[in-house]
Amino acid sequence: MKIIAFCGSPRKNGNTETLLNEVVRGVEDAGHSVETFYLNAMAIKPCQDCGGCNETGECIIKDDMDQITEAIRNADRIILASPIFFFSLSAQVKVMIDRCQSFWCEKYLLKKTIETGKYERKGLLLMVGGMKKDIGVHCGEACAKAFFRTISVPEHEMIYYLGIDAKGEILQHPTALADAYEAGKKLTAL
Ligand SMILES: Cc1cc2nc3c(=O)[nH]c(=O)nc-3n(C[C@H](O)[C@H](O)[C@H](O)COP(=O)(O)O)c2cc1C
Repeated sequence: MKIIAFCGSPRKNGNTETLLNEVVRGVEDAGHSVETFYLNAMAIKPCQDCGGCNETGECIIKDDMDQITEAIRNADRIILASPIFFFSLSAQVKVMIDRCQSFWCEKYLLKKTIETGKYERKGLLLMVGGMKKDIGVHCGEACAKAFFRTISVPEHEMIYYLGIDAKGEILQHPTALADAYEAGKKLTAL
């Protein structure tokens, strides 16, 4: 089973990455491995709405998104981890999602089936927000859902934590790390 993850926080060893690491540990203890893309360290140009993918389903920009496109095509499980920034997903995540417009064209304009492997695809969304308001969770999930469905992930689970702001604060949460570990294990179930 091919499992990939996107870490969307620019903060190294921050709350999102700490949570993601626990998911990865759960996946690994279930006998699988995870290829993680640290989006902040990647050179991904925002979608230019140039229409280049309309007729081919392929983006004409050549940058680090190429390796992500390839990984998405081969993935059975996709983990998306993001801090909540301005009531939504981080810019690092949003840039990557917008570049999936090529999948959108392939699927909805060209009416091609985005091939999936022998396992039904599943997604997992992790979000961490500093505020207690949950509007960011709703906006973030709506965006993530559009991403998952576009790349033919028909269902996803979500775990999120609010009121977690300072770097490392997630470590004080009574259940977050254990929840994330269990979510990782569960993700590998058929
Ligand atoms: C640019 C920016 C925007 C933010 N906007 C929100 C927000 O709208 N809602 C919220 O709950 N937290 C917001 N936060 C707080 C972060 O979500 C919070 O600090 C989180 O723990 C960061 O996770 P990280 O350590 O993985 O980067 C914002 C932080 C930054 C830097």
